[in-house]
Amino acid sequence: MIKVGIVGGTGYTGVELLRLLAAHPQVKLTAITSRKEDGLPVADMFPSLRGHVSLAFSAPEKANLKECDVVFFATPHGVAMAQAPELLAAGVKVIDLAADFRLKDVAQFEKWYGMPHACPDVLEEAVYGLPEVNREAIRKARVIGLPGCYPTSMQLGFAPLLAQGRQLVNESMLIADCKSGVSGAGRKAEVHTLLAEAADNFKAYGVKGHRHLPETTQGLQAIAGRKIGLTFVPHLVPMIRGIHSTLYATILPEARDVDFQALYEKHFAGETFVDVMPPGSHPETRSVRASNKLRIAVHRPEGGDLLVILVVEDNLVKGAAGQGVQCMNLMFGLEEGTGLMQVPVLP
Ligand SMILES: NC(=O)c1ccc[n+]([C@@H]2O[C@H](COP(=O)([O-])OP(=O)(O)OC[C@H]3O[C@@H](n4cnc5c(N)ncnc54)[C@H](OP(=O)(O)O)[C@@H]3O)[C@@H](O)[C@H]2O)c1
Repeated sequence: MIKVGIVGGTGYTGVELLRLLAAHPQVKLTAITSRKEDGLPVADMFPSLRGHVSLAFSAPEKANLKECDVVFFATPHGVAMAQAPELLAAGVKVIDLAADFRLKDVAQFEKWYGMPHACPDVLEEAVYGLPEVNREAIRKARVIGLPGCYPTSMQLGFAPLLAQGRQLVNESMLIADCKSGVSGAGRKAEVHTLLAEAADNFKAYGVKGHRHLPETTQGLQAIAGRKIGLTFVPHLVPMIRGIHSTLYATILPEARDVDFQALYEKHFAGETFVDVMPPGSHPETRSVRASNKLRIAVHRPEGGDLLVILVVEDNLVKGAAGQGVQCMNLMFGLEEGTGLMQVPVLP
């Protein structure tokens, strides 16, 4: 059994990790931390876990994290990088759901996150946890920087276009119009996620620059092997879970004859967690709710030169905890889908 610790067990990605790991056949939950809820049985805070998780939260300094085989950090940025070197030295693998190990360029990290990086050497060996792109490196990794929720949808949505040897679309003008449910902002109390602020409302934010932009650009450039230009506009929508990303790319004249539907189907053939839907589909966020699936539909309105790619995922599963478990399975030599085959919840 893999002994698993979770730092930050009281947040939305923390409780999602608990839900998935409590039912994982190869996992023994060993430590779950909370600074505020030390001693509280997990099931007292999350009744959904009654009968599934018998542990209590413990303060991070009391938790036996070094006895674990792997520790997930479901915490704000800055927490994992402070503890990763010590855990790695004790032979513990680290999977960070925050941004500490995503951006390879330390200067970029410091610019976007406003703090010095605590362990650039660990950052250097860290692997970006997007299995559909980085599977082999993840198998050998000791440290994973998991992608953000929006970046997962944008990178998998654009990947087939950029992974070909030749350019098929105008790569300097990629556009991502993305919408997220409110759980994307976490469980901490903030005015903009109050019911009376977020419900019955729809707004863009972060248009002049969002932290997920440099991460996505870095990932897309790695896939393409070339520079790309991306405009990313996130929106908050009044739903709890889910991301819907509408991606736009202009087809180059020399690629007009490409069958993009076939290209996407071929690119993701054999991927357990990516569903390329039939032509003309309109994937809904509820079709992936509480599951690790990401669904994609490829459109070419009026047969013209603009490709419209629709992508849906559950931000807490494929966008966070589920992807983390997918990486853990690879790191421990398990079947990639172990504990992750939940059917989405509908309605
Ligand atoms: N929500 C999403 O859809 C999503 C998707 C992808 C990635 N992420 C990333 O995943 C991370 C967690 O997100 P979330 O939405 O779960 O946040 P959240 O709901 O706000 O939960 C944060 C958790 O971290 C703990 N925590 C906060 N500061 C800490 C510290 N200094 N030391 C130890 N524990 C601390 C909190 O518990 P205590 O205060 O009780 O210790 C809480 O359990 C963030 O970095 C976020 O950007 C989130």
